[in-house]
Amino acid sequence: MEFIKVNKQYDKYVALIELNRPKELNALNLQLMGELRDALKKLDDDDNVRSIIITGNEKAFAAGADIKQMADKSAIDMLKIDQFSTWDQIRKTKKPLIAAVSGFALGGGCELAMTCDMIIASETAKFGQPEIKIGVMPGAGGTQRLTKAIGKAKAMELVLTGRFISGEEAMGYGLVNKVVPVEMYLFEALSLAKEIALMSPIAAQLAKEAVNRSFETHLDEGLTFERKNFYLAFATEDQKEGMAAFVEKRKPEYKGK
Ligand code: CAA
Repeated sequence: MEFIKVNKQYDKYVALIELNRPKELNALNLQLMGELRDALKKLDDDDNVRSIIITGNEKAFAAGADIKQMADKSAIDMLKIDQFSTWDQIRKTKKPLIAAVSGFALGGGCELAMTCDMIIASETAKFGQPEIKIGVMPGAGGTQRLTKAIGKAKAMELVLTGRFISGEEAMGYGLVNKVVPVEMYLFEALSLAKEIALMSPIAAQLAKEAVNRSFETHLDEGLTFERKNFYLAFATEDQKEGMAAFVEKRKPEYKGK
């Protein structure tokens, strides 16, 4: 891996992926996104991983898709390369994904953070969709996910002005879960990841899938999907263990079975 670092056991059951193009503020070129897609697929298949953190560095989570790589491309080139198809795979990751964001999360960087299930931000985080300033528009989910996360008026403002918002503002709009001092953001993401990793991984997967459905379907269909996943959880040993542990007043030991 050239542009990311992967630690499969950053903590028990928790994996960490670091975007690693610091000089370019982690601009998301094709190679980096390919590596990220492949790493997530592997971690998704690894029974020793139950939650995954994606982070950058203090200065930048990611400053967007790599503008230099795209600058002279034609529309036909873009259609043929279809670089955002990689993102569809990332979206399909079954395990819970937490973005630990410090510094710039712009354009594709903001979109990548929003593709994750939760965002922990540092006080220095800056979120934005500045594509309009370079003559284009968000292309990897920004118009959809940002609007669903923060509502039409604010999303429209950010997408049409390219303005950045701080972690604190993003928190106020419901885009991020928590804002903490810069020295704490990774620790806070790890605490959240560890808490989730204590749960049945199968239940977590079913629940993640069902929550995501609420964005993708109408209420009727979403409720039916949720109900089926709930019933399906009763096919697992983890369900038996979790409920037995409650009745017996002890801590559950989940095996992912
Ligand atoms: N693509 C390629 N290179 C980038 C980049 C990007 N998105 N963002 C930063 N860089 C590079 C800079 O070119 C610079 O490289 P050099 O040292 O070789 O000149 C290096 O990273 C450091 O950047 P700056 O010197 O610009 O740092 P700064 O602190 O002065 O400014 C910034 C930081 C405000 C984030 C500024 O770099 C910036 O505006 N970057 C572009 C942000 C942007 O427009 N993102 C959207 C991209 S399009 C997109 O993402 C489409 C989509 O929907 C997926």
